[in-house]
Amino acid sequence: MKFFVDTADTEEIRELSDTGFLDGVTTNPSLVAKTGRDFIEVVKEICDIVDGPVSAEVAATDFETMLEEGKKLAGIAENVAVKVPLTMAGLKTCSQLVKQGTQVNVTLCFSPAQAILAAKAGATYVSPFVGRLDDIGQDGMNLIGDIVQIYNNYTAIQTEVLVASIRSPMHIVNAGLMGAEVCTIPPQVFKQLISHPLTDKGLAAFMADWEKSGQKIL
Ligand code: E4P
Repeated sequence: MKFFVDTADTEEIRELSDTGFLDGVTTNPSLVAKTGRDFIEVVKEICDIVDGPVSAEVAATDFETMLEEGKKLAGIAENVAVKVPLTMAGLKTCSQLVKQGTQVNVTLCFSPAQAILAAKAGATYVSPFVGRLDDIGQDGMNLIGDIVQIYNNYTAIQTEVLVASIRSPMHIVNAGLMGAEVCTIPPQVFKQLISHPLTDKGLAAFMADWEKSGQKIL
């Protein structure tokens, strides 16, 4: 499973990139606005830090402007994946950009029917938002299971399922059980992945016993 980080904060990206666990980055207009920085500059900087795909989202809602924005974003670096919303204009933009060799992430997917359309548009990634479905009392992970199952029925579908709007490590574990290709993870959840109280307790006990033994390895 590939791990992307869901942030536009370059310091956080640098820190996670140093771990060797980072395969890519996703941003969105809200995350960029949070940084208070210039969008194009931020995307450039992220693309310099990370070799893998960096999702940068268009801001227009009509096809023509979306396509122009997409081309501009794709020109920033080879590893930019243009992010478009799951609307008719977004899917048309997706088809065009993919034909030109650009990676495209179709975002804001909330149903299996939408995910089928994203695949038909040739999307590199489809981003179903699990946390936001959970927030309204639905089971976001059911959507992932459905999309993975549908995509697996057709060898011609190359679109990868990018699980988005992740709120906890359990979303990632379940995504793995279902066979989703990518999880985009907020930095705080990235940190939670490694934590387990029994690991901390076990390590403290080993260190205390080692200290008592009086031995040294080096
Ligand atoms: C995905 O690419 C989105 O940026 C993101 O996962 C949205 O998550 P949120 O629901 O936490 O805003």
